[in-house]
Amino acid sequence: MANQEENLKNIIGHAKEYGFVFPSSEIYDGLSAAYDYGPLGSELKNNIKQYWWKAMVQMHENIVGIDASIFMHPTTWKASGHTDAFNDPLIDNKDSKKRYRADVLVEDWVVKIEAKINKEVTKAAKRFGEAFNEAEFRATNPRVTANQEKIDSAENRFKTAMDADNLEDVRQLIVDLEIADPVSGSRNWTDVRQFNLMFSTEMGAMADGASTIYLRPETAQGIFVNFLNVQKTSRLKIPFGIAQIGKAFRNEIIARQFIFRMREFEQMEMQFFVRPGEEMKWYEYWKEARMEWHLALGIPEEKYKFHDHLKMAHYANAATDIEFDFPFGFKELEGIHSRTDFDLKQHEKHSGKKLQYFDPELNESYVPYVIETSIGLDRMFLAILSNSIKNEQLEDGSSRVVMRIPNFLAPCKAAIMPLTKKDGLPEKAREILKTLQMDFNCQYDEKDSIGKRYRRQDAIGTPISITVDHDSLEDNSVTIRDRDTMQQERVAIADLSSILFNKLKLK
Ligand code: GAP
Repeated sequence: MANQEENLKNIIGHAKEYGFVFPSSEIYDGLSAAYDYGPLGSELKNNIKQYWWKAMVQMHENIVGIDASIFMHPTTWKASGHTDAFNDPLIDNKDSKKRYRADVLVEDWVVKIEAKINKEVTKAAKRFGEAFNEAEFRATNPRVTANQEKIDSAENRFKTAMDADNLEDVRQLIVDLEIADPVSGSRNWTDVRQFNLMFSTEMGAMADGASTIYLRPETAQGIFVNFLNVQKTSRLKIPFGIAQIGKAFRNEIIARQFIFRMREFEQMEMQFFVRPGEEMKWYEYWKEARMEWHLALGIPEEKYKFHDHLKMAHYANAATDIEFDFPFGFKELEGIHSRTDFDLKQHEKHSGKKLQYFDPELNESYVPYVIETSIGLDRMFLAILSNSIKNEQLEDGSSRVVMRIPNFLAPCKAAIMPLTKKDGLPEKAREILKTLQMDFNCQYDEKDSIGKRYRRQDAIGTPISITVDHDSLEDNSVTIRDRDTMQQERVAIADLSSILFNKLKLK
């Protein structure tokens, strides 16, 4: 745990030092759960967006993109269920005056009991060595089974209470589990109440009769309400998809873990409209396709896992999360949901407009079913950041910090460096910069020794450094250095463009 915190602290420090992510409005001591992306961060973020857009929209004939507004008619949120049910159960500690999510208190309690179980398992594994059968031990050891029963019973009770909206019993569960305020240790709890996560604001001047509107808590509804506009104008035939990248806002109660859980964040969502009855086929297709998208980045497979939902929202008939091994353990990175025809039907009901598709092959109209893929851009950014920062010991005894970002996502693709600041080398280097700038985001760097400059570029993940020396003036060649192997090679300036294309392309 201490290691995890240390690791996350290092990532946050690195992100700030090199201009990837800053706390929002830092000169005023920041705003909790809001962050600003700096010069390199905004480049990396844009590159992730492009990778998603290319894979989801441009490489699929039957998927198109939109860019809907953040403000939507308030009835949208009534129809989608967000006005009535997008809530978190909250509880306050009367002594510390701190506020908590009741479900998180219970979850943290479960993690503690699980840790006890794992301790027993580790101890037994040591004792029995090779002969240890973990599954059998978990099923038969009395201390383990007793703790597992405690967990199952608490989880069941919590679920039943939440399903029945019985907030009194949620509070009683917290009392019965003897959960204490993590800060003060006090068990003096208030009642539990529901708190809606949508941010609201007023549209129009008061005198004109301003109305309450919401900052969208997901981008998906902008797609649903545009379903017919897009289908008709793009003449799309089912199955087809509509994709969108954009900001979403949630008044998260517990916002921690850096950019993992923010109050303002970005989503990349795609709704895939299919024939009723064919949704499971497409659900499986998108599960696989989305995992392939992640693995194509070259991040090790063991960093990802599916977490299938056993219990689902009332409108879904299948749901899974792609979890990533973040610095604080496996957590949701992306959701893939089979949402049935719930959203479109709700919008039909509340708008009074038909949201149907005429299927010429079946010669009938129906409300399509929907498979949704939804990934948080900021979480993807954190996944890449946390996976790529490495502290490496080198053969000569020195060390370096390097960001092994997949080349095609790297914020800066090449650094162009004159060996010295004189003898016409800067001019030659800038000439090269000009020829590469149109196609690649490059940096010009002439300060400090060449070794220091290499380290600086390693630390921001620049895949290629190009050094211009005195020979370059004579023979029009330069030295290129590879970030990962640190190998150097002499190449013709005329070949630089094609070398970079080859090294940076997404295969
Ligand atoms: N339209 C479906 C939907 O919004 P969700 O599971 O609530 O589903 C989808 O959110 C994704 O959005 C998550 O998998 C996560 O990556 C991202 N996300 C959700 N809340 C977030 C937050 N507070 N901060 C950053 N990312 C968030």
